[in-house]
Amino acid sequence: MASKTLLCLFFCPILFLQFHFSSAQVVEASYWFPESGFLASDIDSTLFTHLFCAFANLNSTTNQVTVSSSDDAPFSQFTSTVQLKNPSVQTLLSIGGGSSDQTAFASMVSQSATRKTFIDSSIQLARSYGFLGLDLDWEYPQSASEINNFGLLFTEWRSAVAAEAAATGNPTLLLTAAVNYASTVNGVNYPIQPIANSCDWVNLMAYDFYAPNYSTVTKPPAELFDPPSGSVSGSYGIQSWIQAGLSPQNMVFGLPFYGYAWKLVHANDHGFNAPTRGPVGSGDGSMGYNEIKAFIAQNQATTVYNSSVVSDYCYSGTTWIGYDDIQSITAKVSYAKQQGLLGYFSWHVGVDNNWALSQQGT
Ligand SMILES: *[C@@H]1O[C@H](CO)[C@@H](O)[C@H](O)[C@H]1NC(C)=O
Ligand SMILES: *[C@@H]1O[C@H](CO)[C@@H](O)[C@H](O)[C@H]1NC(C)=O
Ligand SMILES: *[C@@H]1O[C@H](CO)[C@@H](O)[C@H](O)[C@H]1NC(C)=O
Repeated sequence: MASKTLLCLFFCPILFLQFHFSSAQVVEASYWFPESGFLASDIDSTLFTHLFCAFANLNSTTNQVTVSSSDDAPFSQFTSTVQLKNPSVQTLLSIGGGSSDQTAFASMVSQSATRKTFIDSSIQLARSYGFLGLDLDWEYPQSASEINNFGLLFTEWRSAVAAEAAATGNPTLLLTAAVNYASTVNGVNYPIQPIANSCDWVNLMAYDFYAPNYSTVTKPPAELFDPPSGSVSGSYGIQSWIQAGLSPQNMVFGLPFYGYAWKLVHANDHGFNAPTRGPVGSGDGSMGYNEIKAFIAQNQATTVYNSSVVSDYCYSGTTWIGYDDIQSITAKVSYAKQQGLLGYFSWHVGVDNNWALSQQGT
């Protein structure tokens, strides 16, 4: 690896420039958010190289990044708190999230002046809170022009963090994005060159493929393989990004620390593709890994690992839960390593079960 880098320095300075942003060889990351009820001080940060603190918001009127008043204290203490147990863990402030206002992002990226307001405020906020990087979680750009502007944003953001570091002498802020599991979203392709040149890496959200809200039969919610030629799986996602031209060294693979519970129509029909009556409970059926383990113990549920798709599931009575247990997580981490990816991240750190899953890659 080192000799390759040296060769590259000598023969292809442009290529080298493209990759020198990644400060870590391996990324073992997770997201944390205060509303999970899990205290930042309870995170075993020795298991991670990077921790994402979620989420800061985009104000649609001012185009500035802001932190809600209730998140102000936990966010400002996050870095110093997690660095107590691991002084070298790197923290990133994540902006947006699945429930944020997508039209605000579309509007912000559409003009250079509003992009600049966003970028400058994000850097100012990261520095004032002590974060070492910034992450954009826009789910998702909707059109060709939005996704093109997403590329412009990252090109300008990279210049701005480089300029800020040069002016202050501080280490350059990390810059990442959480993106769709595949290189295409809503029928348009992510801009590969701006991403490769400007992001330290992208987090592939390789989960939520199936859930009780949108699948009436039981399915592996975050399957790694979808044989023989499916396009809804983690491996398909990785390969689509590689084919689009992104280096695996710019990719970090997403692992769900949660699953989904479906209500079976027939208790004795409990494989994949079994008919269901929707989610268990009054919500969307999602359950954290720690809750799933408690359910299994309390109900002596039957557990199954399917290695051809890489998914665990369990059932008891008419409850069926698709999720990732130790075997699925281990298989996914191995696959990511074998494909040469930079690392993996999980959503989210607060629902691991005594660190059983977080320990699998280390
Ligand atoms: C956005 O910023 C404006 C101007 O500072 C403020 O009045 C408004 O409350 C903010 N919106 C949100 C949702 O915080
Ligand atoms: C999923 O189910 C929940 C709870 O019933 C509901 O609030 C939510 O809107 C549903 N989401 C979708 C995408 O249908
Ligand atoms: C695993 O799941 C696949 C896809 O549904 C299925 O074809 C296969 O039979 C399952 N394997 C086992 C051992 O149940």
